[in-house]
Formats: sequence, structure tokens, C-alpha cells
Amino acid sequence: MSTLARMTDATVVSDGPAAGSGGGSISIRALRKEFEGGSIAVDGIDLDIASGEFFSLLGPSGCGKTTTLRMLAGFEQPTSGQILIDGVDVAHTPPHKRPVNTVFQSYALFPHMDVWKNVEYGLRWTSIAKSDRKPKVDAALELVEMTEYAKRRPNQLSGGQQQRVALARALVLEPSVLLLDEPLGALDAKLRHGLRAQLTALQRRVGITFVFVTHDQEEALEMSDRLAVMSKGRIMQLGEPREIYQFPRSEFVADFLGVANLLDVDVTATGRIAPVKLGDFTLDAQLPPGAKPGLGRAVIRPESVHLEEGELTGDNRVPGMVERVVYLGSTSQVFVRLPQGSVVQSLVTNAVHEEPWASGDACRVRLPSDSLRVLEVSDAAAWSDDDGASAASVG
Ligand SMILES: Nc1ncnc2c1ncn2[C@@H]1O[C@H](COP(=O)(O)OP(=O)(O)O)[C@@H](O)[C@H]1O
Ligand SMILES: [Mg+2]
Repeated sequence: MSTLARMTDATVVSDGPAAGSGGGSISIRALRKEFEGGSIAVDGIDLDIASGEFFSLLGPSGCGKTTTLRMLAGFEQPTSGQILIDGVDVAHTPPHKRPVNTVFQSYALFPHMDVWKNVEYGLRWTSIAKSDRKPKVDAALELVEMTEYAKRRPNQLSGGQQQRVALARALVLEPSVLLLDEPLGALDAKLRHGLRAQLTALQRRVGITFVFVTHDQEEALEMSDRLAVMSKGRIMQLGEPREIYQFPRSEFVADFLGVANLLDVDVTATGRIAPVKLGDFTLDAQLPPGAKPGLGRAVIRPESVHLEEGELTGDNRVPGMVERVVYLGSTSQVFVRLPQGSVVQSLVTNAVHEEPWASGDACRVRLPSDSLRVLEVSDAAAWSDDDGASAASVG
């Protein structure tokens, strides 16, 4: 039985050593790509991706994600550095000989072929005998839940269904690594949300290593086991979604992943948690390893900024004045001006029985010490492209 057929049969998955070991491991060392004309797309990347991992490369347009993927696939030659797949240096392995397949944003299905033939097409270039192709194609279509559409033409399918066919077409070749370059990018928001869950479920089921490229932070946070945030051809931070969101090391990462309130502070001591001055107020904040006293920037997420009524009492609080309230249904964004001049955003859950905040309200702003973090690197200039700068930043 083929790996693919085995993967679709839950009862068999558990008993064979091959099941779940279908994922290739990737080691990237000092990878660089300089295009003719001097444009440096990838500027020294080191990365290890484990077998069976759902790994994302996240970053603004132009940061080098696609180029990295194309070098993994073998469509692009590195200027220098190494790529190992399952421990084997693939420098001299042509694309079709690598245990890798790619799904692109544009699914590029053949319009004159039905779904079944589109999926079978990839197998024509392999040594797999014609008679052995049918079970593989059937299994691939079953994996992406497109069996009932086998006889349809691409133009009789929705965008999401077409992308599932493109996935089946890549999976039918049983790669140990699947490269996905913004595969959900062409779909509308609602479809994209549904496909995210389907794609992660599929990846868990087949155990193939996924390297997923996206500029959508929500997509990367939701789907990945781990992710690398890239900027200008470099990895800015690498880790699990929660870790990167909650412990951004740099302004760039803080800003790129969600809304970041950035505050200028004066660090007055050393330690893991130490007092910092925000204008005339002293607050406890988390410091990065090795931080020294002096000026720095701190980040706090809107959901960690708490607004309270009443007199200014208690630790880690500063007075504020509500400037603007944006009603979003289940939540409201409340923009509050702090005494030293900057504006922070607080995300408030709307409850029916609570009096909503209104502009002009005086309030007490609590910035809990476990959520207020001084950044390791201040690097607002790390954006590659203007379009990335749309990630909201206040302060
Ligand atoms: N074939 C090429 N020739 C010259 N420059 C390129 C080529 N492909 C990409 N680049 C440049 O390399 C950088 C990274 O591109 P890319 O890897 O496509 O970024 P991303 O996928 O993150 O948007 C960009 O500045 C881009 O203009
Ligand atoms: Mg790209």
C-alpha cells in the first residue's frame, strides 16, 4: 500500500512505522541569495525544521519568503550556504528529484481536464505504472475531501475547491516536504478561514512537513507549530506562535504580529523585572536578558492594558484620558492618552451591563508588569515594503 493510501486509512495509520514518519527534516545553513543586479533577497538564514512540523515563514512582502522556498524546491540556486533535506545536501539535486513539492497561490489547474485528471497529471512524469495511479489519485482526492467532484472541470469549482485540487495534485506525489507559498492568498476571507483549519487538520493527518509562507500574521499564528518572522532577507525571531506574540524581541516583530503599544521608557535598574520610568511614573516591567539601565522601548498588547475607574491607586498604574472609542461589536478599542503624551490602545470586551467608555473620560490605566516588556532591539526600520507598515501601531 502506498504511503498516501495508508494516510487516508485511519485504522492503518497507527500500525506501520512509515506512518507519521513521512515528514522530511530540513536544515538550512548560512543561506544567501543575491540576484543579478545586487538585490539581496536572502541574507544569511539558519533554520532547522523538524520532521512533521508545520512551519511558517512570516513577513512583509519582499522579505525573501518566496526566494527561500524556491531554493528549497530547487527552482533557484543559492548564492552561498547549504540546504539539507533529511541530512542530504541537495545542492546538486534537481527540483524533480527532491522529496519536495510546491503549492502556489495561483493553483494553475488545467482548465480542459477534470479534477481527477488534473491530480493524475503529476504522476505521468513518474515511473509509477498507469494501473497504480488510480488508487493514489483517489486517495489524494479523499484527503482533500474532493472525491465527489472528481469529474468536474476547474471552472465548475469555487476558489477554495480549486485550491484543494491543487493540494491533492501536490500530495499525490507523496513528497516528504510540502512547500506552500501563500496558498490561501487568492481566496476571500471567509473561505480562507475555513481552509486554514482544513489545512492544519490535513497536515496532522498526513504527517508531511509543511513549510508555509504567508504575510498574514493571523494565519501563521493559527496554523503553525513554529514560525520564523522575516525581514529584509533575515530571520528576526523564531519560535512558537504564543512565544513570538507574547515575547517579541524587537519592535519589528512586536508591530508585525498584531497591535503593539510602544512606549518610550527609561530603565532604571537591572534584573528580570525592574522599575522603568514612563514620564514621571515608575512602573515595573520585564527586561530582556542583559538589559542595561538607559532609554529603551517597551511593548504592551491592547488586551493587557486595563482601564479602571476611580482614584490613582495601586502599582503599575498611570492616569489617562480616553480620547477615542472604536466599537467593534464584541470588543471596543479604547484609545487613551497618557500623561507623558503617548496614546495607548486598550481592547475592552463589551458586556451589556457595563457602562462603555466615552471620549473625555478620565481613567486609571493599569499596565501589568508581566505584560509590559522592554524590547531587546529597537528596529522600526526593518520593514521591507510599505505595504507591511499597515500593521497598526499607536503611541
Ligand atoms: N528573479 C529576481 N531577480 C531580482 N530580484 C528578485 C527576484 N526575485 C525576487 N527578487 C527580489 O528579492 C526580494 C525578495 O523577494 P521574494 O522572495 O519574492 O519576497 P516575498 O516572497 O517575501 O515577498 C525582493 O526585493 C524581490 O524584489
Ligand atoms: Mg512571495
